[in-house]
Amino acid sequence: MSRTVYLDGDFIAEEDAKVSVFDRGFLFADAIYEVTSVLEGKLIDFPQHLKRLHRSLSELNMQEACNDKKLLEIHRKLVKANDLQEGIVYMQITRGVADRSFFYPDSETKPTLFLFTQKMNLIEAPSAKNGIKIILIEDKRWGRCDIKTTQLLFASMSKMEAKDKGVDDAWLVSDGKINEGTSNNAYIVTHDDVIVTRDISNKILSGITRIAVLKCAEKLNLTIEERPFSIEEAKNAKEAFVTSASTFVTPVIEIDAKLIGTGKPGEVSQKLREIYLQEARKVAI
Ligand code: PDD
Repeated sequence: MSRTVYLDGDFIAEEDAKVSVFDRGFLFADAIYEVTSVLEGKLIDFPQHLKRLHRSLSELNMQEACNDKKLLEIHRKLVKANDLQEGIVYMQITRGVADRSFFYPDSETKPTLFLFTQKMNLIEAPSAKNGIKIILIEDKRWGRCDIKTTQLLFASMSKMEAKDKGVDDAWLVSDGKINEGTSNNAYIVTHDDVIVTRDISNKILSGITRIAVLKCAEKLNLTIEERPFSIEEAKNAKEAFVTSASTFVTPVIEIDAKLIGTGKPGEVSQKLREIYLQEARKVAI
């Protein structure tokens, strides 16, 4: 069955959605995106996703495609049109269509705005129950990982390397320190129940789920350290987990074939997932 997608003002069948071959999103990955999770037909953490979208646009000197009220309306209409109860809404804005040039075209160029929904079992995902295994890979992405661009080839290559090695995902490492996962933020829980995750910089994306989960950790009176952590700390941690809009909190049970803790999803990770989901449902719109 065909989905309804949104492209530049129209809600249309996915097979009818066409973008120019001269779109800068296609030629230069000159585009940014957001992924918002949907539970019970409602958008999770939506205002925060918009806030990050504005930051990405501003860092790249890109125009707003439309105002926030309209973006919310489009998201809601699309969720309804596709009867989406659980899954994600993907939104992409490109700089628009222009003759190929490394220089940005003038500000008159109209941005391309594209959205689609994807049904997913977010709550009952097997990875949430069983945990995931990861490998460590040298981070070879560009130096502006704080901007959520569609330039995702290294993340894709890393996920393929993980798959080829029989595991689920990879954490990206610079100078012996963990940056983040290929498409998620990375955390460890020390034997004193301290949560450690890399501080915000241009080495990582400031995850919307990260912000919410750290608030949940505060509620649970857990100590949080936002700082780089080493490969050794990661491998010897009591627990490890990742967060993102499509995985919420997902336990990591193995790093480079070394079992983490008991090799089963840890208590802190599971508790954080539970509390996060409670809070997320409260703010869903
Ligand atoms: N990825 N770091 C990276 C590199 C990411 O791609 C993502 C999200 C995150 C977590 O951000 P958030 O909590 O806002 O989802 C961190 C999305 C889900 C994706 O590309 O599909």
